[in-house]
Amino acid sequence: MAKEKIHYFCTNCGHEESKWQGKCPNCGEWNSFAEQKISKTSKGNKIKAKNSISLEEIVVEENYRYNTGLKEVDQVLGGGLMKGSSVLIGGEPGIGKSTLLLQIANSINSRHRVLYVSGEESASQIKHRANRLGIRGEGIHIVVDTHFESVIECIKEQKPELIIVDSIQTLQSDEAGNIPGSVNQLKYCCNALIQETKEINASIFFIAHVTKEGIIAGPKVVEHMVDTVLYFDHSASQIRILRSAKNRFGSVDEVGLFSMEENGLIELKDPSGVFLTKRDNGLPPGISIGAILEGTRVILTEIQVLTVPAKGATSRIFSDRVDVNRVSRVAAILEKHGGVKFSDRDIYINIAGGIKINETGIDLPLALALYSSRIDMPIKEDLISSGELSLAGEIRVVPHLERRVKTAEEMGFKTFILPEKVKKTSLDIREVQNIKAAISQIVQQ
Ligand code: TYD
Ligand code: MG
Repeated sequence: MAKEKIHYFCTNCGHEESKWQGKCPNCGEWNSFAEQKISKTSKGNKIKAKNSISLEEIVVEENYRYNTGLKEVDQVLGGGLMKGSSVLIGGEPGIGKSTLLLQIANSINSRHRVLYVSGEESASQIKHRANRLGIRGEGIHIVVDTHFESVIECIKEQKPELIIVDSIQTLQSDEAGNIPGSVNQLKYCCNALIQETKEINASIFFIAHVTKEGIIAGPKVVEHMVDTVLYFDHSASQIRILRSAKNRFGSVDEVGLFSMEENGLIELKDPSGVFLTKRDNGLPPGISIGAILEGTRVILTEIQVLTVPAKGATSRIFSDRVDVNRVSRVAAILEKHGGVKFSDRDIYINIAGGIKINETGIDLPLALALYSSRIDMPIKEDLISSGELSLAGEIRVVPHLERRVKTAEEMGFKTFILPEKVKKTSLDIREVQNIKAAISQIVQQ
């Protein structure tokens, strides 16, 4: 006999507690706890031991990857969609998740059977989107249902090779309580769908909405169940960024870049310069350009800094695109080795286009932007830099300098401040070993 026990889960991060909590001790979210019934098998049941197998005897099936029809998506997935894998794709409502998946369904369906499970939109709404995207839709089967057990029946009957669930939060099983979108429902439906698709060797995409409010459980609670977790994020107006937060079959560093156009998502073939702004009268003080590595590609980014006298007793840093600790460290290095003071200043940081950067190569351009803002002196617009800063004020080499220089050359830059010489380039390379030398390059420019 199965006994039921109540446990509580945070709908934001999935943290489990035996008692209800007002604030999640793990992620700090308020009122995010929801109850879940857990079945416990009583001791009386006999459990049969499973046979083990020698590692040597295991025969591995050759990996097969689907080409999704979008190179950017294939790259983020680590070279295409792995057959039999499960992918969670999260993002805010309206970001373009359904559009992206319909486009993927369209390019896969000519070779493989696709089932699109919609719990959000009616068949005519999906057709309307397909018309807009110029998709005829032969071979894409749509099932509009939120009843989990009916969806499973449909999968068993049709045996599709690719399943798209839009969205996982709308599915409701008879077995998992009566609140759609609850942690219990989300975990149950996701887990059972993964089992079912594994049985028929299909691949599955789960669309999940990311909302800050705790009413609908966030995709975090099912992240550990799937093979790959992607997040779809927006940047400058219509630019969309696809990032991988977990990937069992590839790196998590790759990003995919798209533009949301009138007729769907278009891949950005040459995204190196999309985040740069053209100006007629040079750069204002506080702006510096850096060559940053995003996965395997170089993206040129504009780092904007504003420093103003501190409003409170202590100085503060406002930065949601670059880690605050990095900004704080670079500002401290500049105070010690660059002769400028920030301890009485509030610092505001932004990256043009809204892209988030977490690459060490941003240290040097960030330091130059901070310096430029602090002494109110502009940096020349055709100057670019890359490098990591040590606490002693030295500039360290970052990976793929040649590629960074080549991209900057293609985008029309003239001078590159770097910690090491690079061969075969028409750019004026200024090799600098420490932050002091880098500053003197922008001062005497
Ligand atoms: P959608 O894919 O429905 O987003 P999600 O599934 O993440 O909620 O996309 C919704 C937005 O995208 C909507 O504001 C309209 C816009 N859009 C375009 O700009 N071009 C298009 O071709 C399509 C289909 C949508
Ligand atoms: Mg949608």
